[in-house]
Amino acid sequence: MTIDLVDDDPPPVPHRRLAPGKLVIASHNEGKVREIRALLAPFGIAPVSAASLGIPEPEETGTSFAANAELKARFSADLSGLVALADDSGLCVDALHGDPGIYSARWAGETRDFGAAMRLVQDKLEAVPPEEGRDAHFVCALTLCWPDGHVETFEGRVDGTLVWPPRGDKGFGYDAMFLPIGGERTFGEIEPDAKHAISHRADAFRKLVAAVLQ
Ligand code: IMP
Repeated sequence: MTIDLVDDDPPPVPHRRLAPGKLVIASHNEGKVREIRALLAPFGIAPVSAASLGIPEPEETGTSFAANAELKARFSADLSGLVALADDSGLCVDALHGDPGIYSARWAGETRDFGAAMRLVQDKLEAVPPEEGRDAHFVCALTLCWPDGHVETFEGRVDGTLVWPPRGDKGFGYDAMFLPIGGERTFGEIEPDAKHAISHRADAFRKLVAAVLQ
């Protein structure tokens, strides 16, 4: 009898520390840039947005949040020569088989009308049997790309349920219809700091901090 001692899985690549300094936030979404800036503030990182460097948005051709985050971060890292951080995120509704998911921004159309996007989610939910429920979660993939090709990706999520009509104007995107588990106010009603403590982006960010900033 022979025992195969060869392990086909490559050894895990060790995390790389993120040194203080300039970093490009590879997003043109002001809501996201604001949140990521606030999350990075305590770590001596000086974030600049891709838009302020004149870096355009690449087409999001990936089939997962992580693939799209990597594609955006790689694009900005290659064009700027700086470490780039990208976020790809969205709302996944159980009764809609995970939609709008990676298409969350696209459901808002060219004009980024999230009132219309929330209405579309509600219309689709009304078309499925009510026992399917209104459970949903936000997902966030955060990817760091270094100009030399190194990549780190972290995923976070927050679970909740969808309310109708939307409530509150403190957030962005689908915030006003998302009630986090155990909460009584939507992400559109709570203060940004309270959202930052429990959001999918904060969950992914905690993992990023533990891996590359501590
Ligand atoms: P993308 O990651 O740029 O493709 O866009 C994701 C879209 O998902 C955003 O435009 C928002 O509509 C939605 N989204 C992501 N994160 C949040 C959030 O924290 N609150 C509300 N909507 C979000």
